[in-house]
Amino acid sequence: MAEYAIEIDGLVKKFGDFTAVNGISFKIKKGEIFGLLGPNGAGKTTTINVVLGLLKLTSGKITVNGLDIKKYGEEIKQRIGLMTQETVVEGDLTAWENLEIFAELYHVSPAGERNKRIVEALKEAELTDFAKKKAGTFSGGMKRRLELVKSMIQHPSILILDEPTTGLDIQNRTNMWKHIKELNSLGVTIILTTQYLEEADVLCDRIAIIDHGKIKAIGTVSELKKVVGTGRILEVIAENHGDAAAISGILKTHFKLKPEIKVDKVTAIVEIGHEEKTMSKLLIELSKKRIKISSVSMHMPTLDDVFMALTGASTRDATHDDNSSRMDSMMRGMRGMR
Ligand SMILES: Nc1ncnc2c1ncn2[C@@H]1O[C@H](COP(=O)(O)OP(=O)(O)OP(=O)(O)O)[C@@H](O)[C@H]1O
Ligand SMILES: [Mg+2]
Repeated sequence: MAEYAIEIDGLVKKFGDFTAVNGISFKIKKGEIFGLLGPNGAGKTTTINVVLGLLKLTSGKITVNGLDIKKYGEEIKQRIGLMTQETVVEGDLTAWENLEIFAELYHVSPAGERNKRIVEALKEAELTDFAKKKAGTFSGGMKRRLELVKSMIQHPSILILDEPTTGLDIQNRTNMWKHIKELNSLGVTIILTTQYLEEADVLCDRIAIIDHGKIKAIGTVSELKKVVGTGRILEVIAENHGDAAAISGILKTHFKLKPEIKVDKVTAIVEIGHEEKTMSKLLIELSKKRIKISSVSMHMPTLDDVFMALTGASTRDATHDDNSSRMDSMMRGMRGMR
């Protein structure tokens, strides 16, 4: 039996001259929730569409449960459930009918088994009372829950969720997380894409941060947080964004820190034990130079900080030189981790 649910090796996907996925490799263990975290256009949907055989890969190799997708495409499709990024429930059909169509599509038979699975699915989605209601009348959260259970109707061992909670409010998002965790606890391997760091933090055993078709880092949440070191993150928000450069200058010259700027926000890593002194001295310096700030805080590194450090605007624009050296040392650290 293959140890990994999915193995991706040197995947490249081009659309004409444009390279959407540029040589990515990672392995997803059976039973894990693996997150692909990246901004718009990073290549998340393209990657999963290639795994599913919906797009043909340009080069590289993918195996699912040890089987090469080039040879066993059809068989693999049956084993993977997909919840697409766009909501695709049929609004004119009832919740029951939506599930029934899918059950037939995946050849779930006989009818008794099909009905049993639909009843279970509706229960799982908390939609039992809405079985005979048209899906078009459902709220966004209800539609997404219906899609989640729909993608599970053939009882796949792997479930792919493409941005399952984008557009949902926090209550519906939290509810969706609960359902995703439940499915995983039943033994389903889950690969999910998300733009939400909090989502990846709450759900995922491991995360790959992807940007511009390349993997910037892979690891557990705590491993990734180590990328920004064990220090604390100082965050200063300037009242006028024109002052961000001056704040950054103070942090460089007076504190020997390596700040990053994003519009009006300046962040820097402060060594543990230096937080209070840095904070009070900084406030004095800012007041001396009459620089007004909206807020200043010090926090433990979050996935947000890792994401910013690895994909953030500041690594690509104004302060490129400072960041490229920091990026290099981070990447060296990450390589040892893989
Ligand atoms: N069929 C296509 N033809 C040409 N370019 C495409 C096609 N599909 C995707 N792309 C491009 O490939 C890149 C990656 O797109 P992809 O949809 O994989 O990103 P994503 O990470 O899923 O982003 P989002 O969070 O917005 O869904 C984008 O620049 C996109 O415009
Ligand atoms: Mg996408």
